[in-house]
Amino acid sequence: MGVCVCFVTPWRCLVVLSLRLLFLVPAGAPVQSGDTSPFNRVMDNLTVRQGDSIALRCAIDNQMTRTAWLNRSTILYAGRDKWTLDERVSLQLYNNREYTIKINNVQVQDEGLYTCAVQTNLHPRTTIVHLIVQVPPTIMTISPDVSVNEGANVSIVCLATGKPEPVVTWRHLSPIAQGFMSEEEYLEIPSITKQDAGVYECSASNEVSTDIKKVQIIVNFPPYISDAKNLGVAVGQKGILRCEAIAVPTAAFEWYIEDRRIFSGFNGIQIQSKGRLSMLTFLNVSEEDYGNYTCMASNKLGNATTSLILYETNEPTSSTLVQEKTTSTKYAILRDVGAAQDVKSVGAGSQASACLLLVLCVQLLLKF
Ligand SMILES: *[C@@H]1O[C@H](CO)[C@@H](O)[C@H](O)[C@H]1NC(C)=O
Ligand SMILES: *[C@@H]1O[C@H](CO)[C@@H](O)[C@H](O)[C@H]1NC(C)=O
Ligand SMILES: *[C@@H]1O[C@H](CO)[C@@H](O)[C@H](O)[C@H]1NC(C)=O
Ligand SMILES: *[C@@H]1O[C@H](CO)[C@@H](O)[C@H](O)[C@H]1NC(C)=O
Ligand SMILES: *[C@@H]1O[C@H](CO)[C@@H](O)[C@H](O)[C@H]1NC(C)=O
Ligand SMILES: *[C@@H]1O[C@H](CO)[C@@H](O)[C@H](O)[C@H]1NC(C)=O
Repeated sequence: MGVCVCFVTPWRCLVVLSLRLLFLVPAGAPVQSGDTSPFNRVMDNLTVRQGDSIALRCAIDNQMTRTAWLNRSTILYAGRDKWTLDERVSLQLYNNREYTIKINNVQVQDEGLYTCAVQTNLHPRTTIVHLIVQVPPTIMTISPDVSVNEGANVSIVCLATGKPEPVVTWRHLSPIAQGFMSEEEYLEIPSITKQDAGVYECSASNEVSTDIKKVQIIVNFPPYISDAKNLGVAVGQKGILRCEAIAVPTAAFEWYIEDRRIFSGFNGIQIQSKGRLSMLTFLNVSEEDYGNYTCMASNKLGNATTSLILYETNEPTSSTLVQEKTTSTKYAILRDVGAAQDVKSVGAGSQASACLLLVLCVQLLLKF
């Protein structure tokens, strides 16, 4: 067996050695280079997804005396004889036209060059296949949901694997879909604002498929008063002072008259706070109730206050008309509902007696 020295492609050398072992290549034949080399055929790329099966086909003819399939320099099959211990490899077809082996459950390590060597009467011939294994993308690492204060520099990351290397992009999904934010693994949001809060989606995609994961960014900020109005109410009426504050986390409310804190249930006053709205309700406004009220909204990041005046009106004026109107409408509705109920009960009563009469009549008729 000749000594073989290969610097550029050592696998070729090993293939030749293996083939010589199989007597597919005459021992004396040198490893050739140039156009006459059996290795200089156009290489076919064969693409397969991880986990799938692939058939490696090789065309043969009647001139063929011996043949083999090799994985790099390792013989998988020589004719009908299986040389590899790998259970995933099997012979699929061996006739006078085709010599095909099959690899089940293809893995990334299987990627590489596979050689079909054919010995004919005159000289050996090889067909080389480049097996390329593709792997769907998987997001391996993604930042957890975060809660930060407004103004913070936020950086989130999404790391994915796959073959070919997946392309990673970030999108701001909600509350308003804002399109692509970043076309790389890291998403940097310097000096974050309220508007930057929401759900972000990381998508990793390659030719095989796409993997998607989401991250929520909560941006905390101190309250600001978004709505509060003065109110004119006549003595003896019901009045509601409303104060609305936007904050994350949701604000807690406190009410003051001058510098005294007001508590719910005190002097016929009720405080109801839900979400961003707090209502100070006077069930029956009296002279002493008129004055300058303060609404304070606070969370862990700070507080905001506003003043609301509860003032006296005798007649509904244009500014208080809405409030007065809703109140009187309510009373009107209540009155109407009461009246309707009365009518209804009368109506129902007469209906019942009419029905009873009918039943009696029918019974009487049946008796005859
Ligand atoms: C096979 O794939 C390689 C890259 O992996 C590429 O350079 C080559 O052109 C491809 N060959 C054919 C025949 O498609
Ligand atoms: C091909 O060879 C590589 C490297 O030796 C090995 O990891 C892989 O399992 C082999 N695949 C088959 C199908 O023989
Ligand atoms: C955010 O980054 C900028 C520039 O890198 C820096 O000047 C600033 O202090 C950082 N802010 C915070 C809250 O870390
Ligand atoms: C409101 O208060 C006044 C004086 O305290 C009282 O006379 C009146 O009956 C009250 N009205 C209601 C609806 O409770
Ligand atoms: C109500 O009180 C606040 C301070 O508590 C003050 O700034 C504001 O001017 C007062 N409003 C009126 C109309 O007096
Ligand atoms: C409201 O915020 C101010 C600073 O903006 C702070 O000095 C004050 O103590 C806060 N008041 C309350 C009741 O948290």
